[in-house]
Amino acid sequence: MQLVQSAAELTQIVESEKRLGKRVGFVPTMGALHQGHASLVKRAETESDFVVVSIFVNPLQFGAGEDFEKYPRTLGVDARLLSDIGADVLFAPAVSDVYPTEGSVRKLRAGSLGEVFEGKTRPGHFDGMLTVVNRLLDLVNPDVVFFGAKDAQQVALVRKMLNEQARAGERAPIQMVECETVRDEHGLALSSRNRYLSTAQLVIARTLNLALRAAAEFEDRDEALSAGQAVLSPEARLDYLELVDADSFEILESAKGKRARLIIAAYVGETRLIDNIVIDRTS
Ligand code: PAJ
Repeated sequence: MQLVQSAAELTQIVESEKRLGKRVGFVPTMGALHQGHASLVKRAETESDFVVVSIFVNPLQFGAGEDFEKYPRTLGVDARLLSDIGADVLFAPAVSDVYPTEGSVRKLRAGSLGEVFEGKTRPGHFDGMLTVVNRLLDLVNPDVVFFGAKDAQQVALVRKMLNEQARAGERAPIQMVECETVRDEHGLALSSRNRYLSTAQLVIARTLNLALRAAAEFEDRDEALSAGQAVLSPEARLDYLELVDADSFEILESAKGKRARLIIAAYVGETRLIDNIVIDRTS
């Protein structure tokens, strides 16, 4: 595996692989890698010929008072993991390479889908996320990208951006592959932020997924949400638990006949955790 830090070098490497007819897969991450990230990379290896993984902690998607400064940075360990599982390139650019000069990088706006749920609690988060994903796509120029279903609103927004850009002829169509959420043996969705949790807090964190599963027993929104809340640890501070359309994130009164999604966000101590599950009631 090659460790590449300069954008110019990355572009050269990818271009020469493409000239050889290789299909380039891309997995963007912020590092502090775990088996959730690894599953995306492994999927990328099955669906492309040359796999680029980026590690970049993007300042634009963190709000004031969020954990940008203390976000775990473990490049050495991450590089080892990626090399062990067979990634071809680890792209770990500096902030100055991703955002060279003020105004030189196009800032994207996430619009209304970026203002609800995660976007409501984290204003500007999705604008920053789309801006960096768009910039990384310019640098990597992949054929296919891999994102985790754990961040379902992120998936919906990136998919929308890719569709709009392809329709407008702004960039060649890029395929989006949504990969299943990887969980620990107790159902807790793996997250780089789980490493902030103490053993006692891990037990509390696991009740997020229990809440989703309890809620999924009911089609009716009110019943589902009450069942979920009853199971969530009282020590978790709930931000939202909601029944929404799986793709548009519009609130549903009932999951009946729908491809619905139960979404949850809660704080365990200072740590904000999210999870979601799809409940397909279309058949
Ligand atoms: P990060 O949180 O590092 O996640 C990188 C990718 O890994 C995302 O697509 C995320 O959904 C996926 N992922 C995280 N935990 C997962 C799990 N338990 N199972 C499956 N996939 C999981 O998401 C970001 O970084 C950033 O917003 C980024 C897209 C890199 C832009 O900065």
